[in-house]
Amino acid sequence: MKPRILVVDDNRGMCELLELGLAGCGFEVRWTTEPHKALELLQQDTYAAVVTDLNMPGQNGIELTRQLLGNRPDLPIIVITAFGSMESAIEAMRAGASDFVTKPLEVDALAMVLRRAVQHRALREEVKLLRRAVTASHCFDNMIGQSGAMRQVFDLLDRVAAADVSVLILGESGTGKELVARSIHMRSQRRNGPFVAVNCSALPEALLESELFGHARGAFTDARGARRGLFQQAHGGSLLLDEIGDLPMSLQPRLLRALQERKVRPVGSDTEVDVDVRVLAATNQDLEAAVTERRFRGDLYYRLNVVQLCLPPLRARGNDALLLAQHFLDQAAARLGKRIERLTPKAAERMLAYAWPGNVRELQNCIDRAVALAAYDQIGVDDLPERVRDYRPSQVIVASDHPSELLTMDEIERRYILRVLDIVGGNKSLAAQILGFDRRTLYRKLQRYSVAS
Ligand SMILES: Nc1ncnc2c1ncn2[C@@H]1O[C@H](COP(=O)(O)OP(=O)(O)OP(=O)(O)O)[C@@H](O)[C@H]1O
Ligand SMILES: [Mg+2]
Repeated sequence: MKPRILVVDDNRGMCELLELGLAGCGFEVRWTTEPHKALELLQQDTYAAVVTDLNMPGQNGIELTRQLLGNRPDLPIIVITAFGSMESAIEAMRAGASDFVTKPLEVDALAMVLRRAVQHRALREEVKLLRRAVTASHCFDNMIGQSGAMRQVFDLLDRVAAADVSVLILGESGTGKELVARSIHMRSQRRNGPFVAVNCSALPEALLESELFGHARGAFTDARGARRGLFQQAHGGSLLLDEIGDLPMSLQPRLLRALQERKVRPVGSDTEVDVDVRVLAATNQDLEAAVTERRFRGDLYYRLNVVQLCLPPLRARGNDALLLAQHFLDQAAARLGKRIERLTPKAAERMLAYAWPGNVRELQNCIDRAVALAAYDQIGVDDLPERVRDYRPSQVIVASDHPSELLTMDEIERRYILRVLDIVGGNKSLAAQILGFDRRTLYRKLQRYSVAS
C-alpha cells in the first residue's frame, strides 16, 4: 500500500505539482488549499505524513503544525520554508515538525525526507509494540519482575490465591506489599467482591476501632448515624490490614474474635453481624520479634500467618531494577509528553549498584524526577539524585540474619565485582587481576549483570 500524504498549500498549482511529482515517487497524495480543512481530512482517512507550506492566509504552517500535533502527536509533518529563512525553519521544528524542505522545491528531495519520516514513525511504533510485548512477558498482574526471587513470589502467590486462607505479606517499605494483596484478591474466588484496605498505623486507636468494626447510632457524642465498619464493607471480598504491626494491643482481641467467629460487633451495639471476609495482613516489621516482646499477641499472629509471603528487597532482585526503571520511564514520559526512551548505560550501572532502601517506591520517585528533569532523549547520570549518583557500595555481604534479606551467590558476586571496579577506578585489567579472572571472563560477567563494559 502506498503511503498517503496530505499536502496543504494555498497555491493550487503547487498542490497539483506535488501530487504529480510525489505520485511518481510512490506516494498517494491528497491536497487542500485551505489549512483549516486539514484536520478534518486527517480524521476522515489515515495519512502517513503531512506536507505544509509556511505562509498561507488564514492559518500559517506553524500554527497548523501545532494544531495537528495536538490531535495526532505522532504524525510526521514536513514544513516547506522559503529559501534562506533559517528562522522559520527553526520555529517549525520547535513547533514539532519532523523536518523541513526549502523552496524552490525539489520533488526528489522532498520524497526522500518523507520516506525517512515515515520510516522513523514506523520504527517508533514497532519499538512501542515490542516494548509492550517484553513488559507483558516480565509481568505478573501489574508486578514487574523476572529475578529468581520474584519468580518464587509469583509462584507462591499463584498457588495461595485460590485457597481461602489468611496471608501475611512481609517486606520492607515500598516492596509492593499492597500490590501483592490486590493480586491475591484478583486471583481468588472473591475477585468480584470488594477489596478494602486499611492502614492500621494511620488512625488513632478509637477511630480505628470504629473504622474496622463500625459503630451503632449514637455510640459516641459525635456519632449521629450508625456506620458500617470495613469488615462489613469487605463482606464477600478481601480486607487488607496494612501495617498490622502497628495495630494497638487493645484492638487485637477484637480482631482475633472477628477472625475466629467470622462475626463483628459494632462499637456501642449489642448485636453481632456475620461477615465473610478474607483477611490479608501486611507489615514491614518483624512480627515474630514483636510476639516475643509481647507487643503483638501470639494467637493473633498464628491466625494471620497461615501462609507467609516474603517480598525480597529490591537490591536482592538483580536486574529487575532496570526492568522497573524502564517501565516507570515509559509511563512518566507518556504522562509528561516527553520523548525519552531509555537510561544511558552509565545511569543504568548506577541504578544497579544503588541499594534502594525505599525499594520500588524510591526507584519510581527517582525515575519520575529524572524524566521531569531530563533535557535530552535519554536519562543520564546527572539526572539521578545525588544519593544514587554518588552511591558507593560498601557492604558486599549483608549483615542481617533475616531470611528475606539474604542474598544469592550471583548477587554477592555482582556486588563484589562492582565494589572492586569501584575501588580501582574502573580499571578492568586490574579488577580482573584482583578477582582472579581473565579479562574476557570479567567482560562476560559484566555483560551478564548488564553493566556496560
Ligand atoms: N513489582 C512491581 N512492579 C511494578 N510496580 C511496583 C512493583 N512493586 C511495587 N510497585 C509500585 O511501587 C509502589 C510501592 O508499592 P506498595 O505500595 O505496594 O508497597 P508497600 O510494600 O505496600 O510499601 P509500604 O510498606 O511503604 O506501604 C507502588 O506505586 C507500586 O505500584
Ligand atoms: Mg503499603
